[in-house]
Amino acid sequence: MKVLVVYYSRYGHVLALAQAAAKGVQSVPGAELVLRRVKEFDDIQAQTAGDKYAQAAWERQKDIPECSLADLEQADAILWGTPTRYGNMCAQMKRLIDSTPGLWLKGAFEGKPAGVFTSTATAHGGQETTLLTMMVPLLHMGMIVVGVPYSTPGLLHVERRGGTPYGPSTLAGPRGELQPTPEDLAIAEALGRRVAETARKLRG
Ligand SMILES: Cc1cc2nc3c(=O)[nH]c(=O)nc-3n(C[C@H](O)[C@H](O)[C@H](O)COP(=O)(O)O)c2cc1C
Repeated sequence: MKVLVVYYSRYGHVLALAQAAAKGVQSVPGAELVLRRVKEFDDIQAQTAGDKYAQAAWERQKDIPECSLADLEQADAILWGTPTRYGNMCAQMKRLIDSTPGLWLKGAFEGKPAGVFTSTATAHGGQETTLLTMMVPLLHMGMIVVGVPYSTPGLLHVERRGGTPYGPSTLAGPRGELQPTPEDLAIAEALGRRVAETARKLRG
């Protein structure tokens, strides 16, 4: 049973959530983790070449393979992670999703569990809007969207950090100066586990 964690991350915050979700996937017996990054746009690659923070994040993920259509097709469950861009998913992730009509026509995503996670710079920068709008194409694709129940440790809180019932999240800070808190990572791990467990139950 393959569980794909596919993410895009320019400064490493979503990467950290993806790695935590991957840990959760790996805690489920029978789940084979497939970790993939979304292909970067050439112009963004060029623009960020002189940005030391983006370069440091690139060094941490350059060996993670790019996500292919075959990775999407072969997955039994998929966790999708993207930074927030004006309250929405990033264009790189949208391009990947928009490259799937061939798979959609075949019903390749139908009945497979999915989860979503995100990062914003600021506290009210759109975590929930990104997570909820990300679910829309996944529902068109026939996926079964899995959230984070409030029984998950760390979810019920009023602290300056992430964690929503729609999916894990984190605050990057206006200059990317923050890092995911232990609770943010634990919630991402919990969703990775929950999506993998759901896939296992659905397979019977
Ligand atoms: C074009 C663009 C739009 C953005 N829009 C938002 C936004 O709506 N809300 C917000 O809080 N942060 C916004 N950000 C900041 C990113 O969400 C932030 O850099 C990201 O969450 C960091 O994740 P990463 O380290 O994985 O790249 C935006 C950044 C860019 C480049």
